[in-house]
Amino acid sequence: MTKTFRMDEAQPRLLDETGQGIIGAPLDRPEGPKKVSGRAAYAADGMPDNAAHGVLVRATIPRGRITGIDTASVAETPGLLGVFHGPRFIRNPAQGMAGEAPVQPGDEVHYHGQPIALVVAESFEAARDAAQRLVVSYDADANVDTDPAKTDALEKGDPETAGDFEAAFSKADVTLDRAYSTPPHAAAAMEPHAALAEWEGETLTLRGAQQMLKTNRLELADAVGIDPENVRILSPYIGGGFGSKLGIGPEAVSAALAARELRRPVRVVMARQTVFDAVLRRTETTQRLRLGADRSGRLLALSHDDRVTNLQDEGFAEPVSQASQFLYGAEGLSFAQTLARVSRTPSGSVRAPGEAVGMLALEQAMDELAEMLGMCPVELRLKNLPEKNPMTGQPFSATRLADCLRDGAERFGWKDRKPVGTRRDGEWYVGMGMASAARSNMLIESAARVRLSAEGAVVETDMTDIGTGTYAILGQIAAEMLGLPVEKVEVRLGDTRFPAAAGSGGSFGASSAGSATFLAAKAIRETLAERMGCEPSDLTLQNGMARGGNREVPLSELIDAELVEEASVEAGDTSESHFSSGFGAHFAEVAVHAYTGEVRVRRMLGVMAMGRILNEKTARSQALGGMIWGVGSALTEEMAHDPRTGHMVTRDLANYHVPAHADVPGDMTVVFLEERDDMANPIQTKGIGELGISGAGAAILNAVRNACGARIYDMPATPDRVI
Ligand code: MOS
Repeated sequence: MTKTFRMDEAQPRLLDETGQGIIGAPLDRPEGPKKVSGRAAYAADGMPDNAAHGVLVRATIPRGRITGIDTASVAETPGLLGVFHGPRFIRNPAQGMAGEAPVQPGDEVHYHGQPIALVVAESFEAARDAAQRLVVSYDADANVDTDPAKTDALEKGDPETAGDFEAAFSKADVTLDRAYSTPPHAAAAMEPHAALAEWEGETLTLRGAQQMLKTNRLELADAVGIDPENVRILSPYIGGGFGSKLGIGPEAVSAALAARELRRPVRVVMARQTVFDAVLRRTETTQRLRLGADRSGRLLALSHDDRVTNLQDEGFAEPVSQASQFLYGAEGLSFAQTLARVSRTPSGSVRAPGEAVGMLALEQAMDELAEMLGMCPVELRLKNLPEKNPMTGQPFSATRLADCLRDGAERFGWKDRKPVGTRRDGEWYVGMGMASAARSNMLIESAARVRLSAEGAVVETDMTDIGTGTYAILGQIAAEMLGLPVEKVEVRLGDTRFPAAAGSGGSFGASSAGSATFLAAKAIRETLAERMGCEPSDLTLQNGMARGGNREVPLSELIDAELVEEASVEAGDTSESHFSSGFGAHFAEVAVHAYTGEVRVRRMLGVMAMGRILNEKTARSQALGGMIWGVGSALTEEMAHDPRTGHMVTRDLANYHVPAHADVPGDMTVVFLEERDDMANPIQTKGIGELGISGAGAAILNAVRNACGARIYDMPATPDRVI
């Protein structure tokens, strides 16, 4: 029996009372040794003997129709097994979170680089060779919109408002009206997208690199045209996702379809260039920020309009102004979005969709406003923190943003910041900048099962670990609750046969799957208390012993066979009760070369309040990783498209430069302020993975301004834009 817990029930605070000291401890990831020694089997690692190799063929026109696929052109290929294409074949990388993904008819091309066929052969080399030689003829459209600045295929949304922005803006003493642009970004996960599909009768098993198995199973079943009951997905190890593996992609669908036809397993591994071509990217944006304040620095008006892009018919639009809608309060607020339809690789979620790019603009605008007011940027923010969500009126579930700002300023030595352009270190200008961090927090329906036997405990859920530390934290939750050392808890993830969880996305994984694990373990405690003849609140489990009433017995004596409990959690309706977000403050010190404009980040500090920390080490790694994304979005990361075809030209990790070791300062500090979020979920946590990036790049760019005077409205701050 699964018990479902809803967030309107009373909140258990058990994790503060169990007293093992396991929760929060900076424990190593149990799967770490397997990963660094190459023994963890990623999707492409398990190659059965009779498996065939598939290589995707991509379109070479921006838009039009395929009029012929000349399979004779590759007929001589040694070991060729088939060329697959057709109406079911091509499907956009789905937006897992949005559910429905559009199925693209097999003969329509929507963007240059779109997968249009799969060549399968006995060897990878033969399949790749044939995929490159396959002759495809097209009826190409004459006029194609590939440039978001030039297209008139615009869908303008109505502004979302609170109060009267125009009236408030017109009475402001100080106003700022600025345009910003950000380029497309790649998720650039280390592990290229890969799938191995195998059929056994009607049943399809897919080993894939996937973030959200519950929805991925539905998407794959739909794409292949079978009952979801007949689909099993296995994703025990995933080499990074960052949004790019939220949905089922063409590698998985094509592998499944080809394997069914050929009656043998088919593996499809994307080359890095194909990943850039055919995997969802983050949209380019243009943004307009208008801020109006009175002389004391009180914000009266705030408007954040944006323009984003996507392919025709794609449902996703980057929620650029998400943080601007709740971070600061003002009398008049207005947010409008325009979606431009262009023939470029479809855009979707990339780490912190919305905040990651929206806060680059918002937090630079706040910095500039502070300068216009002659005010300290930290003070300006402190002065404008709202009591409630200014758009919805919901109270915040927990917020320590003010503490983060003050604590960060103190630790960073903010008071030593010098006026713009006045600090020099040899050929370098040196400056400091800061920004707020915010990332909305979610709880998504999740289930987990916990088994307790005399040998220890097992946690089972289809939750994934995309490098974030899920194995570690779920083990810690169960160990803490059951009084076992972590070594006695085995965590099994990434299999759709296990209870369905939220998966990894939107920073909701740890809170959601963690809550389900907690609740299942709590149910086991209740059964144990009954067997001890005491109240659950009087039960103490420690070192394999149970204490309650006046008895102390080994846990093993209370369990005849196995004790199994499954539990699930769901958010319920929280639209009235509260709004939840993680908050923090970023500080950065940079050096800007006086003659070349090169920017070096010298140190960074992030002070964050993100609910209960489940594991100091994995949480810190997530926060640091996010901040490093901030370095990339501020300084180097930029996808470029060929204006003639819309084809991406930065299609590897040399041309798309994510921060390498030399770009990352040695001095990076993360501080967590103690917080329990009782309204967010039963374990009082908040999402961590995406808060680190949100605002981090703006702190760097504000430091560039402080160092040398340059404001960077078109990102990233490459030397040509700084000089
Ligand atoms: Mo995240 S961008 O929802 O993996």
